[in-house]
Amino acid sequence: ADKISTLLLFGATGDLAHRMLLPSLYGLHADGLLPENFRVVCTARSELDDGQFRASAVDALKQYVPHNFYDPRTALVFSRRLTYVALDATNTEGFKALASKVDPKDGLAIFLSTAPSLFKPTIDGLDSAGLTGPRVRLALEKPLGSDLSSSREINDAVAAAFPEQRTFRIDHYLGKETVQNLLALRFANSTFEPLWNSAHIDHVQITVAETVGLEDRGGYYDSAGALRDMVQNHMLQLVALVAMEPPADFDATSVRDEKVKVFRSLRPIRSDDVADHVVTGQYGSGAVGGEPVKGYVEELGKESATETFVALKAHVDNWRWAGVPFYLRTGKRMADRKTEIYIQFKCVPHSIFAARGARTQPNKLIISIQPEENIRLLVMAKTPGLDREGIRLREVPLDVGMANAFADARRRIAYERLLLDLMDGDPTLFVRRDEVEAQWQWIDQVRAAWTESGLTPKPYGAGSWGPSAAIALTERDGVHWHD
Ligand code: BG6
Repeated sequence: ADKISTLLLFGATGDLAHRMLLPSLYGLHADGLLPENFRVVCTARSELDDGQFRASAVDALKQYVPHNFYDPRTALVFSRRLTYVALDATNTEGFKALASKVDPKDGLAIFLSTAPSLFKPTIDGLDSAGLTGPRVRLALEKPLGSDLSSSREINDAVAAAFPEQRTFRIDHYLGKETVQNLLALRFANSTFEPLWNSAHIDHVQITVAETVGLEDRGGYYDSAGALRDMVQNHMLQLVALVAMEPPADFDATSVRDEKVKVFRSLRPIRSDDVADHVVTGQYGSGAVGGEPVKGYVEELGKESATETFVALKAHVDNWRWAGVPFYLRTGKRMADRKTEIYIQFKCVPHSIFAARGARTQPNKLIISIQPEENIRLLVMAKTPGLDREGIRLREVPLDVGMANAFADARRRIAYERLLLDLMDGDPTLFVRRDEVEAQWQWIDQVRAAWTESGLTPKPYGAGSWGPSAAIALTERDGVHWHD
């Protein structure tokens, strides 16, 4: 694909830009991955000049680039790639001024890190100013709608100016090294794939637990809730990567074709299913990491029935996964920060040790995505010793810590991968329109079912693993959450 010379960043003074995008661009710069003349044209509403914006960018880098990687001299050199244009996206005049500063014929990537209400006006503005030609790509950050119909509206507005091949929908989980490693684990090894099906796998658990609360984004979060904020996008992408068939190739079409089939195979959750398939929760006050924290309603400053936790029992109804439950859970203000995929295999068909009193546990494969990055296979081993009665067995890990296996690799921000792929024009790790719409379709059904069945969030103490009903959800099936 075409190389590009300029990144045009909307929402450049926002939180995502400060915390993730500028530090990622700094990382690419420091590693020599940006072309010499590459520029980042930054826009937002505030009236700033280049100097002021660069200074604020350097401040953000100081704060958010990992300290052992931050170098003031490099930051200064990097900041010279940045220029700033004040722009009100609802006023088309501003786009003309912008067009005088960037030339779409040189290759342009546009990144919308703004409120979704500005997507359409921004795209219209870009279009009217001639900033949408064949050498222009568009990247969008979530939320891409709040349900299927609003997501379609956004997709239609985008499609009016950018064909799908030049549209890059971000799900930052796909930029995480450990998430991509799932594909390597499955498709670059011969050991796991023959076992990767309902004949050998008992169930799958996916946990995305966070310790943070609202983080000053109460307005957005309260209108979204955990299902739409985390399950619709990140968790369903993890489900897809675990469940998908081997793609023909590691390319954008093949990988996304397989993922979308998984979304289409998700069994709808109807209102009759809600009671034993869905639990929602909302945190009350409590303590996280020893620090007392407020409950959700108090933190938000108003009454709310928004869920900050959700646990689901999902099914992928296809040949490979028939009868294998996928238990998903995510929440804010939980006991620990942990994103993990846990795969429990079936028990041995017959234990030769049972008569001598030894219990065998099923094997488990645990893929830790964050904060640790490792892959552990739990296997049964004999406990050393001279037992006269027979044999004692214990579960021990075959352990691959990524930090040890790849000791000299810098831990990168997910957006470094995604920004580089955007510049290179490779959409493999971005979400295609049919994917995002299939995701919404399933989520809308879940929401409709829980509304119809009158489900309301159960309280849970901040710093816990969610409401006790979430534990009951799996215990009914004889399954324990892996904490
Ligand atoms: C975002 C959600 O998409 O992902 C946030 O809007 C959440 O609510 C964040 O905190 C989690 O990302 P990560 O990379 O910290 O797991």
